Amino acid sequence: RTTRHYKFNIKMQNVTRLCQTKSIVTVNGQFPGPRIIAREGDRVVIKVVNHVKYNISIHWHGIRQIRSGWADGPAYITQCPILPGQSYVYNFTIIGQRGTLWWHAHISWLRATLHGSIVILPKRHVPYPFPHPFKEVPIVLGEWWKADTEAVINQAIKTGLAPNTSDAHTINGLPGPLNNCSAKDTFKLKVQPGKTYLLRIINAALNDEMFFSIANHTLHVVEADAVYVKPFRTNIVLITPGQTTNVLLKTKSITPNAKFIIASRPYATGPASFDNTTAIGFLEYKKHSHSNTKPNNNNLKLFKPALPKFNDTVFAMNFNKKFRSLANSRFPAKLPKTVDRHFFFTVGLGISQCSKNQACQGPNNTRVAAAINNVSFVMPNTALLQAHFFNKSKGVFTTDFPSNPPFKFNYTGTPPKNIMVTSGTKVVVLPYNTKVELVLQDTSIIGAESHPLHLHGFNFFIVGQGNGNFDPKKDPSKFNLVDPPERNTAGVPSGGWVALRFLADNPGVWFMHCHLEVHTSWGLKMAWVVQDGKGRNQKLPPPPSDLPKC
Ligand code: C2O
Repeated sequence: RTTRHYKFNIKMQNVTRLCQTKSIVTVNGQFPGPRIIAREGDRVVIKVVNHVKYNISIHWHGIRQIRSGWADGPAYITQCPILPGQSYVYNFTIIGQRGTLWWHAHISWLRATLHGSIVILPKRHVPYPFPHPFKEVPIVLGEWWKADTEAVINQAIKTGLAPNTSDAHTINGLPGPLNNCSAKDTFKLKVQPGKTYLLRIINAALNDEMFFSIANHTLHVVEADAVYVKPFRTNIVLITPGQTTNVLLKTKSITPNAKFIIASRPYATGPASFDNTTAIGFLEYKKHSHSNTKPNNNNLKLFKPALPKFNDTVFAMNFNKKFRSLANSRFPAKLPKTVDRHFFFTVGLGISQCSKNQACQGPNNTRVAAAINNVSFVMPNTALLQAHFFNKSKGVFTTDFPSNPPFKFNYTGTPPKNIMVTSGTKVVVLPYNTKVELVLQDTSIIGAESHPLHLHGFNFFIVGQGNGNFDPKKDPSKFNLVDPPERNTAGVPSGGWVALRFLADNPGVWFMHCHLEVHTSWGLKMAWVVQDGKGRNQKLPPPPSDLPKC
């Protein structure tokens, strides 16, 4: 077994975008951050040293962390933050996963600039189940704020109003020419004709589900969230924050007299056409190395991709339904065929009352909130995993997270009169190996919206999805128990539902939350406590000695 060592020095770095220079939090001065490369089965050891004034915590998004929950990273869930001047060594083994994942800060809004890719290659001498690519290229979609993002979210928390949206979207940190003085900050993908490239697309944006497309080129989806899928062709990829999608790009057989726009644009909040919320880059063909004429890109024809219209929920539903597990003998779909516990969670926005001394700026001293089953999650000030492990949950969390919404209503119709949420640090406790079925229903209490729900510590199988209200009588009979996609983040469709199954075979405390950072900040999050099993390999070992304490 190979061990891969990395050192992440968290430090400030001046970066210029959109004509302005600001100091951002980075890993080793890089933005986007460094790439982690490992093979399936490797141990990865990353020493994170905090040289900035912020509290830090890093999450390895999608890594299953089997019996290594202490390395998962969400602040106040599995660990307390790494304080300024302190360090913590994340130590985990990649078991049964290969593909693209990513890492990001998991505290406040620091992931805006603290993120990077994780590339997990198959075990040595094990081929991909698709043609071996000529080259592999990470494509990290992100957002850029001119302002300091910590100031943006702190202001929103203080006022109870929505935070400012970003000033630009980015491809590998670059907004591209549709933005002010950004032409030189344009991502360029230089390719050779007649080759296959593997694009490892990661949506690291804070608050936007994105369309991604390359003009006049078909993308061949082969993997999602580090799980191979049945390949399918598409011109446009839809990807929620948190998700990763690997696509093969086959270049044209002879060098075309053209260059092609690579575009990334928000799905729910985007405009009807290209504007400064669209990040664009260029796909350019390299001239043959033996030609001595200098390439002149100015004479080239420019092609632009066609993207769906703003909030095209039909496209979104159809696209998401294309994902299927390989479900073959090499990669069987190991989903629970039966269910021990069924949960029905509503996810959506609401409002909460602010206390007298808070002076929130919503009507009648209220603030925007977000909730699951009407519970807006309150972050504890000690880590849940420590409290659970050392049997000190009293005063930290309660185990009464509701399995069903407190009252029934037409979830995608007229909102109920009372749209107040309750708040608390509530969890669900699951015995080891519980087979869980979870239906997530979007509500339109304050507008229907997609919610990319991300579960830590597990992959789940998406067995069903649909528009409108989930029908417990009719919909389960249509569940796909044969080749459902296996993912760590599922888009709950705007005005619809999604049904998931997972086996709770990983002891620990596992966060589940909307990966739109603003919704997480508003409370759209909860945690599952998975108890130890009886067997020797069914227990969470004690924490490492350098685990940051609160
Ligand atoms: Cu990608 Cu809880 O996070």
